[in-house]
Amino acid sequence: MVIDSYDKFKDEFYRLAKIDLNAYKENQMKRRINSFIQKYKFNEYSDFFEGLKAKDEIFDKFVTFLTINVSEFYRNPTQWKTLENDVLPYLTETFGKHLKVWSAACSTGDEPYSLAMVMKELLPFSKIDIIATDLDKEVLSIAQKGYYNEKSIKDLPDRYKKKYLTNDGKGIIRVNDDVRKSIRFQEQNLLKDAYPTGLDMIVCRNVLIYFTEEAKSQVYHEFSRSLKKGGILFVGSTEQIISCDQYGYESFRSFFYRKES
Ligand SMILES: C[S@@+](CC[C@H](N)C(=O)[O-])C[C@H]1O[C@@H](n2cnc3c(N)ncnc32)[C@H](O)[C@@H]1O
Repeated sequence: MVIDSYDKFKDEFYRLAKIDLNAYKENQMKRRINSFIQKYKFNEYSDFFEGLKAKDEIFDKFVTFLTINVSEFYRNPTQWKTLENDVLPYLTETFGKHLKVWSAACSTGDEPYSLAMVMKELLPFSKIDIIATDLDKEVLSIAQKGYYNEKSIKDLPDRYKKKYLTNDGKGIIRVNDDVRKSIRFQEQNLLKDAYPTGLDMIVCRNVLIYFTEEAKSQVYHEFSRSLKKGGILFVGSTEQIISCDQYGYESFRSFFYRKES
């Protein structure tokens, strides 16, 4: 039974990991942390914190567990079709045939690789600049290797599977070199680190749902500063932005917002 101070744990964990748990919805986060503590047979936040300090392995597992890394290629296909049919043509008409795109909180890489594939329909790889970031080193290392299973590519259209993936016939699928080379993976914490600038599009999906309203609002403001005027923010399927004009966006399509000119 976990009973001692969660507030103290949050402070100490921030000093150790530079992850501010105050920015995540508290009930949800506390439930997850408590279940992890029980699974690893700690009793209190205090002895758990000592365990985190003492063992890198528990620390890394905890960060990965905490941050919920579920992802898949072409997640929510309807929105990716809107990206292909409406948004990318708009972006190339507006900004020309060289696009700088940020996949923020990219997890295991499924999202930025899907982006590279759909962008390649309009642009050569040499004109596709994708920065893909996450705060979790473990997922970034998986992303860089580029190996996946059938489940993670189930929604990806066959034409992309044929062109950009190699299947070893035993269920291991690898993203081809040309796609992997079009992406720069980097560690970045949305709540603490600098944001890239001069972007034509930001894709940030299925992470802000875990943030408090205050943290979300801070991120939307920062995204707006990072985008060029007329640039696009692509959000997750449960993440519509209420009163998006307060951050300087207008609605472009469902789940796509345009920075006002
Ligand atoms: C559910 S995954 C979403 C992956 C992908 N965007 C998608 O929609 O499939 C959420 C990701 O957000 C990352 N994350 C959580 N908090 C973050 C933060 N403060 N800064 C950067 N990434 C964060 C997690 O490590 C995790 O990989």
